[in-house]
Amino acid sequence: MTTPKTPVADPGTASQDSGHIVSGDPAAANPAAVSPAAARFAAAYPVRPVPAPGPVDTAPIATTPAALQELDGLWKAVAHETRTRGNDIHLPISLAFAERLCRAYPEADAGLVRVATLLHDTGWAHVDESRIISEGFAGDWRKAAIRFEHEKQGCDVARRVLPGLGYSEEFIERVCEIIDGHDTRPVAQSLEDALMRDADRLWRFDQAGIALASSWFKMDPATYTDRLTAEIVPELITQAAHDMAAADLNRSTALLKTAVIR
Ligand SMILES: [Fe+2]
Ligand SMILES: [Fe+2]
Repeated sequence: MTTPKTPVADPGTASQDSGHIVSGDPAAANPAAVSPAAARFAAAYPVRPVPAPGPVDTAPIATTPAALQELDGLWKAVAHETRTRGNDIHLPISLAFAERLCRAYPEADAGLVRVATLLHDTGWAHVDESRIISEGFAGDWRKAAIRFEHEKQGCDVARRVLPGLGYSEEFIERVCEIIDGHDTRPVAQSLEDALMRDADRLWRFDQAGIALASSWFKMDPATYTDRLTAEIVPELITQAAHDMAAADLNRSTALLKTAVIR
């Protein structure tokens, strides 16, 4: 499919997380105002969505599960953390998308993207669960204290579990650079950061993501998929993610008959 090319940052673009719109962050218009790394990434990848040099697989994600056994030890180490906020559904599906995105962008450090994606939301297990929906998904969610807390807690999880699995200190800090700010920083700071962010959104377009997330927000599937089109698709950074999202949305809306049941 083709998607209209847009500038790196679109001033005033609304941002939202699964159904809650907030006004665009002015910093998103200027990556240099966010960090030197964000400015470097914006300069290195001026075309958005970022074109994919590798193959783009748009088949249902269930056909290519995250199968790399090397991460099984990490999954076991964070099994407790996957029991909060549907992470035992969200994280494995997001990891499958992350691995697929890495095949489309072979210049990315796939090991970094995979570990960061697997761990990015584990911090939800260490915050006050009653505040997750009331604060973390309402209003100006990017600035909600609970959002910052789950990012910080996710970094603590990474620093707790990764050393014992043989990961270097330098690698762990790169993982934390992605986790810390994955929701609250308005722009990506590296290709690996961008792929994790796209994987974090792509799971929503699969039928399992629609089923789970629409129930969180007490939306019917038609309303939720309309929101995906209007608000999540514009946030996708890479062309591969746009292609995967479009294919999944077509399948999911047909399956759920959202054109009729609304
Ligand atoms: Fe998150
Ligand atoms: Fe997430």
